[in-house]
Amino acid sequence: MSERSQTGGSWPRTRMRRLRAAPWSRDLCRENALTAHDLIWPIFVQEDPGTSSIPSMPGVVRYGPDTLVDAVGRASDLGIPAVALFPLVADAKKSADCAEAVNPENLVCRSLRKIRDAGLPLGLICDVALDPYNSLGHDGLVVDGRILNDETVEVLARQAVVQADAGGDVQAPSDMMDGRIGAIRDALEAAGHRDQLILSYAAKYASAFYGPFRDAVGSGGSLKGDKKTYQMDPANTDEALHEVGLDLAEGADMVMVKPGMPYLDVVRRVKDRFGVPTFAYQVSGEYAMLVGAAERGWLDRDKVVLESLLAFKRAGADGILTYLAVEAAERLARG
Ligand code: PBG
Repeated sequence: MSERSQTGGSWPRTRMRRLRAAPWSRDLCRENALTAHDLIWPIFVQEDPGTSSIPSMPGVVRYGPDTLVDAVGRASDLGIPAVALFPLVADAKKSADCAEAVNPENLVCRSLRKIRDAGLPLGLICDVALDPYNSLGHDGLVVDGRILNDETVEVLARQAVVQADAGGDVQAPSDMMDGRIGAIRDALEAAGHRDQLILSYAAKYASAFYGPFRDAVGSGGSLKGDKKTYQMDPANTDEALHEVGLDLAEGADMVMVKPGMPYLDVVRRVKDRFGVPTFAYQVSGEYAMLVGAAERGWLDRDKVVLESLLAFKRAGADGILTYLAVEAAERLARG
């Protein structure tokens, strides 16, 4: 709030509605704006040709090798600067040691090469975490029910290098192990990937809003227990600043808060404190809430989509990962 509005005039000398009276003055005085350049599209990939739907995320599909490039091309044409890839890994390729995560021929690597070979100009963001490859559904290696930290970090560093080799531009660790940003940065440097970006899921909470995503990548059914020993307690915000500070010190270029809409206070604190490129993830459960209510006729989909995304900008996010990226960009293009 400005000094003036805190201490200055009172009605009728000040009438807040004057500036709201006409479209032109609302346009002129608007403080924040959403554009297609603010959007990152998370996209699910599968081995099988065609597409498959995800019941808990109506309207979102997984793309096969023959449909992926067209979908990504459409996003690129709309001005969306980057996509984030998430694989549906066949059960037969999941294991306790998550070996498929570091296979240079895995689904993510093949998808990256396909998009690169098509010459599409957009940024390719790769998830760094073991859950799609883990028969136990966790983001890290599990031994006797415990999620191992340092052993997991070694695998993550190899996964990041493999994904950078395959044409990824950004490695985005979503696993919340300690020390993984430093280890990934060192591994990338050692492999000659000096310009590879790291987008750290720095403040990622142990949230119930991830349910539909786990259906999409097929990790929900296998997950034993919860992720509370590595993802953050939803009650905390100082801890988020601590996490972000550590990840920046270890070499992250960009940081993320996740989930999004219920955690916009965290986005604001991170942006104010660090002033670095700050992203937020409108996660699968948020998508399901908005779209589910709209399908029932309880919300106006067009309006809530843009309003929800603008709220991220107002909170200080530089960009938003959202399953609604293409829909929002189309809507923005229409004006
Ligand atoms: C796991 C991962 C998750 C999401 C992105 N990466 C789920 C989890 O932590 O269990 C969630 C995204 C969403 O809900 O949209 N590495």
